[in-house]
Order: sequence, then C-alpha cells, then structure tokens
Amino acid sequence: MSNYKFSEIVNHLVVSGFVFPSSQIYGGLANVWDYGPLGAELKKNIKQIWHREFIQKIPCNVLIDTAIFMNKKVWQATGHVNAFNDPMVECKNCKSRYRADYLIKKNFNNENVNNMSFDEINNFLKNNNIKCENCSKINNFTDVKKFNMMFAVDFATTRSSNENIFLRPETAQGVFVNFKNVYRSMRKKIPFGICNHGKSFRNEITLGNFIFRTKEFEQLETEFFCEPGTDDQWFAYWKQKCFDFINLLGIKKEKVRFRDHEKSELSFYSKETVDIEYNFPSIGWSEILGIANRTDYDLKRHSEYSKENLKYNDLNNSYFPYCIEPSIGLDRLMLTILVDGFDKENVNGDERIVMHINPLLSPYKVVVLPLSKDLSKIAREIFDELSKKIMCIYDESGSIGKRYRRADAIGVPFAITIDNETISDDKVTVRDRDTMKQKRILKTEIYNFIANILKNY
Ligand code: GAP
Repeated sequence: MSNYKFSEIVNHLVVSGFVFPSSQIYGGLANVWDYGPLGAELKKNIKQIWHREFIQKIPCNVLIDTAIFMNKKVWQATGHVNAFNDPMVECKNCKSRYRADYLIKKNFNNENVNNMSFDEINNFLKNNNIKCENCSKINNFTDVKKFNMMFAVDFATTRSSNENIFLRPETAQGVFVNFKNVYRSMRKKIPFGICNHGKSFRNEITLGNFIFRTKEFEQLETEFFCEPGTDDQWFAYWKQKCFDFINLLGIKKEKVRFRDHEKSELSFYSKETVDIEYNFPSIGWSEILGIANRTDYDLKRHSEYSKENLKYNDLNNSYFPYCIEPSIGLDRLMLTILVDGFDKENVNGDERIVMHINPLLSPYKVVVLPLSKDLSKIAREIFDELSKKIMCIYDESGSIGKRYRRADAIGVPFAITIDNETISDDKVTVRDRDTMKQKRILKTEIYNFIANILKNY
C-alpha cells in the first residue's frame, strides 16, 4: 500500500485543480464531482491511449458513440430491470441506507459474503450485532431488500403522458443493439470488436472514497465478438491485453493483481469474469476494471425481445457470436493513476510533492520559465511555438525553486528555463521532473528533444 493517506492525496487533487466538489458554491452535492482543468486533460489523455491501444492498433475493432437514453425494452431484455439489484438495508431509527454485503465485509472482514445469497446475507445480519454508522443503534436494520440500481427518468413529451425510461447503467448495451448496424455497414467478419464510451449511471447505495464509486461515471468498453468455442482463448487474450494496458499507463506492477469472480458473484450475464484490482491506500485491493465472458446472452435476449434476428451470418454459418468484454471505469482508472503517481520527496531539506505519472498522461507536458521578467519576450516566443504542438504552461511568478515545485506537484514532465545566456547562445535548460537532472539544449531543438522521449511511452 502507499505510504500516504488517501485523504492527503484527495486534498492535493482538489487543491491543485484535478477534481472539484460539484456545485460547491451551493454546498455541493454528496459524492458528485467535477473535473477541473487538470482532471479534464488527464481524462482526455487516458481516452486517447485507450483509443490507440484498443481501436487504432486493433483494426478489427471499431468505435461507436451511442445515446445515454435508450428504449426501455433494452433493459427488460437484458434482465437489468429484474436482476440489476444490490442487497439494501435501512436503519429503522435514522433511515440511513447501506449495502448489506458491504456492512458485513467491513465489520467482519468477511470476503465470503461474495458467495452469499440475499437470504444468507439477511440471516447473517440478524445474527450479528452490526452498528449503524450514522446513529450507532445496534442490530436495528430492516430485512434485506433488492434495490434496483437504474435511475428512472421522465422522458415524457407531453405533461399528461407518463413515460419513464432508464439512464444507461453500462455503455455495453449501445453496442449490442447496434450489432447488426455495425457489422453490416462496416462489413465486419468475426472476430471483431465494437468499442463504446461515455457516461453511465447507477443508483449506488454505498458511495464514497472520492471518485472511486459514484452515481455518474464514465466507461470505456469493448464488446469483442467471436465464434463460440473460441471464447476461452479470446478471454485470455483480453485479460493479458488489459494487464498490458495498465502497465503501459505506468501503474506500478506490484500494486496490481487479477481476481477471479466466484461463481455466485458472477453477473447474471457472465460465464467467467476477472477483475484487475489495485491496492489503494485506506481502501485496499479494489476493482479498476473487469473482463467478462458474456457468452451469447445479450444478442440472444435482444433477438428474442426485439424480434430482430441478431445472428451473425457468413457464407457457411449463422450463429449468435460469443462476446468477451473488457470494461474499464475511466474515473477509477484516473484515481489509480493519480494515487499511484503521488509522492513526497525530500530535496535538500525541502519537501516536494511530485506526481510521477506517465508523461503521455500529464495534463501539461512543459512549463516554460523565464528566469527573470526581462526574458519574457524570448520565453513567450518559445511558449507560443511549443503550444502549437503540445500542452504547455507559462509561469513567471515566484522563485525558480517554487515554480519547479508547482510544476512537479501537477506532474509536468519537462521544465524549460530561459536565462541570460539564452540571449547569446540560443540554449535553454531542460529539467526532468523525475530525476531533476538538467541539460542545456538549443531552443530550436526543444520539441524534438521532448517528442523523442515521449515516443517511448
Ligand atoms: N458492462 C459491464 C460492466 O458495466 P461493471 O463491473 O459493473 O461491468 C465496469 O463495471 C467498470 O465500471 C468497473 O470495473 C468500474 O471501473 C466502473 N464502475 C462501475 N460502477 C462504478 C461506479 N459506481 N463508480 C465508478 N466506476 C464504476
């Protein structure tokens, strides 16, 4: 686990402009967060690498971008209306709601809860003295209820009509309902993948841990369609691919592990699921992403409910393909990258906070620092030139040491200092965020120098 407290890292991320509490001037909204300028850039950079690794470099995969609103029948067909439930209890005294399985896990460190049915969870709660975290009453919970996690919204077009639909709880269904559209229009042959990304919504009972579990979050999902019988092999392929992706992002290997889902824990659509977990400070091992074998469940169900034939046809065969799904939570992945990169170091008796994140992910790649205001003009010219190609910040206020610290604390990988000698020799000093080593190079070479380093990531 990290040496730092989760709360200390969260505080840094809020103060420095990665994440802000949503609608803060009105007192905020519990567990809802906005991404600030640094968070928005980081998110965009992660998506770009996901796109490169899952779509651009895998030509049999394509990207779609589907609507959040979907016909209600989608969720009846998939089983989400009946089966997308969490076990919920309410404190009879203060009405606080809890996920019953989380209460058991937390109070008894009991991982077996993943294998328990709703009835078993209920019995366990009744026979063990668990305190309400809000009012401290002991063993005063309602029976466990099934709580559906989908948000219903009024989609009515007139005041008298009553038309509730659901906000999508996963982006995956946008793919299944478009399966035929995509494979026909793009003339795809099995195996191929359809990726979808965007916001998903779940009415989670237990929230918290900052952006780890929220009601509104973003997913990067791939639905990879293959011939039945080849699914185990493709499952292994995507499992490895996801692990490589996590490594590529620079997350420390020793803090990442696979965890297979127990049979009783599997989602209603899954034959096999494995999570990639990260060892978060304070929270412990927790899921960042999952890879599931959804079999032919979704296409079959949509065929049945929509009466559209969603079988795949080639010259000799007609069948429902199996689907392997690597599903990534973008917000959780962001949190992992930020927590993993956060560090505090002693530099000649001074403390520096530094975000050792993969330079490709850094919101800003370069900070341009004139040593004195007399050098502003030349520094501005360098900034303007570099900004045409990469994200840069210009900083001329405070001592050079303070300016280095500010840039380190938000993970800027390169600092370019312009000093009096620059006027005569056309050279600047480039400082590396991680090693703090410095090198003098020609100002005309700055971009090539940085691009050469970035291309290794
Ligand atoms: N389509 C499959 C699916 O949605 P999931 O395991 O429920 O599977 C996939 O979700 C990923 O989405 C998770 O690994 C997690 O990263 C992210 N995720 C799920 N619920 C979330 C929530 N309430 N807040 C933030 N991220 C969430």
